[in-house]
Amino acid sequence: MTDRIRIEGIYKVFGRSPQQAVELLKAGETKESVLANTGHVAGLTDVSLAVPAGAIYMVMGLTGSGKSTLARCINRLIEPDAGRILIDGEEITSASEARMREIRRTRISMVFQHFALLPNRTVAENAEFGLKLRGIGAKERREKAMGILDVVGLSAWAGHLPSALSGGMRQRVGLARALATDADVLIMDEAFSALDPLIRTEMQDELLRLQKALKKTILFITHDFQEALKLGTRIAIMSDGKVVREGTPEDIVQNPKNNYVAAFTRDVDRARLFEASSVMTPAEPLRYGTAVTASILSVGGGPMFVVDDGGRVVGVVRTDQMQDVKDDVPVQSLMTQDYEAVCSTTKLAEMAGAFHPDRPMAVVDKDRRFMGRVDPLQVLSRIGTPSARSSHSKAAGY
Ligand SMILES: Nc1ncnc2c1ncn2[C@@H]1O[C@H](COP(=O)(O)OP(=O)(O)O)[C@@H](O)[C@H]1O
Ligand SMILES: [Mg+2]
Repeated sequence: MTDRIRIEGIYKVFGRSPQQAVELLKAGETKESVLANTGHVAGLTDVSLAVPAGAIYMVMGLTGSGKSTLARCINRLIEPDAGRILIDGEEITSASEARMREIRRTRISMVFQHFALLPNRTVAENAEFGLKLRGIGAKERREKAMGILDVVGLSAWAGHLPSALSGGMRQRVGLARALATDADVLIMDEAFSALDPLIRTEMQDELLRLQKALKKTILFITHDFQEALKLGTRIAIMSDGKVVREGTPEDIVQNPKNNYVAAFTRDVDRARLFEASSVMTPAEPLRYGTAVTASILSVGGGPMFVVDDGGRVVGVVRTDQMQDVKDDVPVQSLMTQDYEAVCSTTKLAEMAGAFHPDRPMAVVDKDRRFMGRVDPLQVLSRIGTPSARSSHSKAAGY
């Protein structure tokens, strides 16, 4: 995957002579000391990140950590003081003002907390409103709006006024309006933060669903770690204008790397975050219709699954059935149906009910092809908090 957005060593300082403060930050001075000595506020210090095309990339941090400053640097509503920003390899930090206007019109769209509909306009008129503001012609914008209403499942309501819709449906139209744009890069700054919790959850689900159809590149800013975990393909965690951790949600929860990040991860329900594939032991299956030898059976070090010609699981040979096996025994004479199979994308929380002490568990892909097996102890160790070491750490002082 190519990087749609690349941010390389960005600095932003608020104050009269930022360059002097940037030099101090580059020399390793902290945000506090720069403020105390120069009166300048460090908004961003040496921020680098890469957003792959098609990602929902989360920038997560507490209030004042620099998230909005970063978002505004990307379309140069704020001018960075040092560093480079590239969109599809084009350096926009050196682009002319005319080129920047073009990029804002065609490439990057900003979504704010604004999903309220115009009450006297139809659903279709609401959905196309953003395109109208961008000067898109009537026919083209109606086509685009209808396309996105279709994706959110509301095309049948196109001619109705918002008052005919439920609250949740109205929010979906608002989201459709925000996403009905030519731009393939969306920057959503705390877009859901003002919504009440139930509607917020609905909007998160809807965004995930929409993204499957639209495949935009979304930089989503939030102060909510749970939201970051739920939506993110990757997450950058910011503190005091710096990125203090970057990675996939699973990677960050499993290995926070510093106490600041560990404080966020402590209460995460790991069973709902991790999937079967994360606890899977890859293993060689046996092929149905072949003969086994004692040495083949000892290779696996555990139960061995049997697959058909298409790689689909058809049975299992348990370890207790492997004792005293003579060579050249047909697989099917050892095989039983005493197994469970879970899809690789099943969350650990949903797997729990499928465990039986005498029934080995296979992980399969969506076509039921064998991928590996699950050791229940692996699941337990994955669900547990990494270790007691993080339970004494404080949010500050990582
Ligand atoms: N226009 C500004 N003038 C001075 N300081 C600012 C300005 N905008 C932001 N800051 C400061 O920069 C830091 C980052 O702010 P911001 O990017 O808004 O954080 P976030 O969006 O994470 O809450 C904060 O310390 C904030 O006070
Ligand atoms: Mg902000």
